[in-house]
Amino acid sequence: MTADTLQIDIQPTTKSRLQEVDFNNLVFGRNISDHMFIAEYRDGEWQDARIVPYGDLSLSPVTAALHYGQAIFEGMKAYKNEEGEVLLFRPTDNWKRMNHSAERMCMATIPEELFMSGLTELLRLDADWVPSQPGTSLYVRPYMFATDAYLGVRPSDTYYFVIFTCPVGKYYANPPKVKVETQYIRAAEGGVGAAKCAGNYAASLYPTKLAQQQGYDQLIWTDAREHTFVEESGTMNVMFVMDGKLVTPAVNDTILNGITRKSIVEIARHWGMVVEERKVDIKEVIQALKEGRLEAAFGAGTAVVVSPFAVIGYEGIDYELPAVKDDSFVARVSRYLTDIRTGKEEDIFGWTL
Ligand code: COI
Repeated sequence: MTADTLQIDIQPTTKSRLQEVDFNNLVFGRNISDHMFIAEYRDGEWQDARIVPYGDLSLSPVTAALHYGQAIFEGMKAYKNEEGEVLLFRPTDNWKRMNHSAERMCMATIPEELFMSGLTELLRLDADWVPSQPGTSLYVRPYMFATDAYLGVRPSDTYYFVIFTCPVGKYYANPPKVKVETQYIRAAEGGVGAAKCAGNYAASLYPTKLAQQQGYDQLIWTDAREHTFVEESGTMNVMFVMDGKLVTPAVNDTILNGITRKSIVEIARHWGMVVEERKVDIKEVIQALKEGRLEAAFGAGTAVVVSPFAVIGYEGIDYELPAVKDDSFVARVSRYLTDIRTGKEEDIFGWTL
């Protein structure tokens, strides 16, 4: 599908659900907005691009994604500025990452024009769903899955690309207690850790449930070979403020190239802070924590934005982290990012669209 042939058929809803939403009490993922965007890939091209009232999809029980897991997704957030305009944060980075995931999972790729037009048209139609209360945003979920009704194992020839949105508040009510996982793994070299594919999230559920039974909220994943290098935490990238530097695992094929992560890295460098993107040994982190050299450990991701950890559990011991001070890097970068996203701060990086 090219820019010349891209046409989106729009069927607006006749019954908006907007009035049913309590915007002062938004729970992540509970309220889906009125419309969704759908495009279908078949005969080697994307077609039937449309926006329709949000509702169920009708699928064959044989649908390939349900059996062999060709399913990928993205997450991004839209905000309203003081003039009431809808701002999107780095959407072309999401488009690029989605295609990176698509290639790794042997799926069709999505033309930029299709991704961006679907997104902007959907947001134009559902602009009233973008909340403006502090700490809220409209979470945007683009995803793609294999639809061949065929049970043999092979890359599907057909796909659905769908986008829906939901107004959201905070992802975590309180700073999470995280446990360093040294038995199960999230990803291995040569695997699919850097792809935002559904299976990565499914595989995390059981080890996370075990940690929750022990009183933690989330895991810090470690590398598959030695269980010593920090990888990610839950659905987030992990960052440390250690010895006055921002230290974070370098992205590779086991770690997702997080857009919030790389924005924080760029902001820190812009502020003149030393940033180290490298292997981070969990023992080094615990040592720094014991010696008072660890100012903060936090998760970074679209859903959470910045989420400082309250406790790190490692080898049976719980280490409490210092409370986040208002003038600390974590607090400042979190405010700065939100202010750029909501148009309160000049976007010198050119990130908002
Ligand atoms: C995101 O931050 O976009 C995520 O991927 C989290 C999501 C799985 C809730």
